[in-house]
Amino acid sequence: MHTLQKQIQSTPKAAIMYNPCIILSLFFALILFSALPLTEAAGGRWRMLQKSVGIAAMHMQLLRNDRVVMFDRTDFGPSNLSLPGGKCLRDPKAVVKVDCTAHSIEYNVVANTFRPLMVQSDVWCSSGSVFTDGTLVQTGGFNSGERRVRTFEPCSTCDWKEIQLGLLARRWYATNHILPDGRQIIIGGRRQFNYEFYPKTAATQKLFDLPFLAETNDNNIENNLYPFVFLQPDGNLFIFANNRAILFDYTKNRVVRTFPAIPDGEPRCYPSTGSAVMLPLKLDAKSIEVEVLVCGGAPKGSYTKANRGVFVEALKTCARIKITDRNPKWVMETMPQPRVMVDMLLLPNGNVLLINGGSAGTAGWELGRKPVLNPVLYHTNNPLGRRFELQNPTTIPRMYHSTAILLRDGRVLVGGSNPNSLYNFTGVLFPTELSLEAFSPSYLDPEFSSFRPAIQYPISPAKVRHGQALKVGFTVPGRVAPTKVSVTILSPAFNTHSFSMNQRLLNLGSRAFRLRGSSKYEVEVTIPGSLIVAPSGYYMLYVVHQEIPSEGIWVQIA
Ligand SMILES: *[C@@H]1O[C@H](CO)[C@@H](O)[C@H](O)[C@H]1NC(C)=O
Ligand SMILES: *[C@@H]1O[C@H](CO)[C@@H](O)[C@H](O)[C@H]1NC(C)=O
Repeated sequence: MHTLQKQIQSTPKAAIMYNPCIILSLFFALILFSALPLTEAAGGRWRMLQKSVGIAAMHMQLLRNDRVVMFDRTDFGPSNLSLPGGKCLRDPKAVVKVDCTAHSIEYNVVANTFRPLMVQSDVWCSSGSVFTDGTLVQTGGFNSGERRVRTFEPCSTCDWKEIQLGLLARRWYATNHILPDGRQIIIGGRRQFNYEFYPKTAATQKLFDLPFLAETNDNNIENNLYPFVFLQPDGNLFIFANNRAILFDYTKNRVVRTFPAIPDGEPRCYPSTGSAVMLPLKLDAKSIEVEVLVCGGAPKGSYTKANRGVFVEALKTCARIKITDRNPKWVMETMPQPRVMVDMLLLPNGNVLLINGGSAGTAGWELGRKPVLNPVLYHTNNPLGRRFELQNPTTIPRMYHSTAILLRDGRVLVGGSNPNSLYNFTGVLFPTELSLEAFSPSYLDPEFSSFRPAIQYPISPAKVRHGQALKVGFTVPGRVAPTKVSVTILSPAFNTHSFSMNQRLLNLGSRAFRLRGSSKYEVEVTIPGSLIVAPSGYYMLYVVHQEIPSEGIWVQIA
């Protein structure tokens, strides 16, 4: 279906330029327009959902009730949203000692409304993941929040609950991942070259060293915070920090395998923030191949230079590696634009959306420049050199502390951006963004509506067991019987600082059959039998027809 893809043409090289005036004016035009988006015919649409939700969405997590928990930090000073019932937070270390405003909200996707929530400690640069039962378990932060564990149950009247000393170490800029036994592992954080579990068992009441984090630490600059972590089908963890990766057996505290560094040697983790995804796992194959894609970041030295007012061009490359190969090698690809602080989201059809960020500088206070307003689709299964497709731009820069997550209906929720150390709406390059937008990738363009499947059953939320056969009924508006149908399940990720923790897409494969005497179809798929491949919990399930996904339904794998 190549109409789906409007390929990016490389900028035509100006043919003969012998007139120095033309060259000069072109030069100035280039400078002028270098901050503007490329405006070729592209797909996808933007919509403003809320001009202000009162806080800057720095962290986001979609829950099984189609509500999104968001929060920024409690030491920002008063937000633009009051806490209900005269509640106030007292924090002697914050800018404002008594703060009666909210720093967290619950956003209702279906109704497009929100309500304030009350976090009781500083959640700044924290991390989290959703437990098997759908509860968000969220850890760490700054000062009052550095060893906290917080839980949020998905219900329309619930609020945060906090456990004072739930962590053994301070965790600021750590990465969490859900484990097959339902616990989560919490890895690293500033000056923490170790990991721990939550909740803890008798055998895990301690910190476990992870020298890899010390080895990838670029002195005071770090470049290895918020490491990229993915649970592998063999039970190990793939951990990427700075410019290289290991396969790690967390049960034996042992490095199983060391992968080569990305050939250009450039850092990809905070503050040289790029991002990464584990590409879709295809479960209908004999053995599961695993590929990881890392994109963007900032060259070595960018952070130091940015602090001196020199904003280096961001990295323009992605690196892809098949980690299940005997001799895995990074294969480099070039994005349409350089990009730092880029979010990478797995879409229901297995493609990847690159969204948010800038093309110069780094992450950190006021250190990013040249916002990149166009999202880019990455066509996972296209041949090398034909994978990037530009999407229509937004008008709002989404720089440091911006967020993006996939919603069940296939749209992408985009929020946040606050490179300023306080809420600041005037006199700064990138004012604090309190708005929420929705980006609809080109698969939601009306021209594809005759392809779009609509799931008839099971009814959402559906309960399924590991290894169970599941029949999924759907209709397709077009007259022609659907071909190339697959079913995918996606775990809702915890997004902050351009990384989506616990992002996982399983392609369950399948073939569709027309139900006798009707225009309805059915596919039968098998829910993975392995807790390692598919940790228990809530997933969004999609029927995908030639790259056009249905609206998802919630399934609970238990
Ligand atoms: C936030 O509140 C401040 C102070 O009341 C106000 O000046 C500002 O316009 C508000 N900003 C937004 C985006 O709502
Ligand atoms: C916003 O930033 C500007 C420029 O640094 C500064 O002058 C101003 O005081 C800041 N405003 C607030 C509310 O912090």
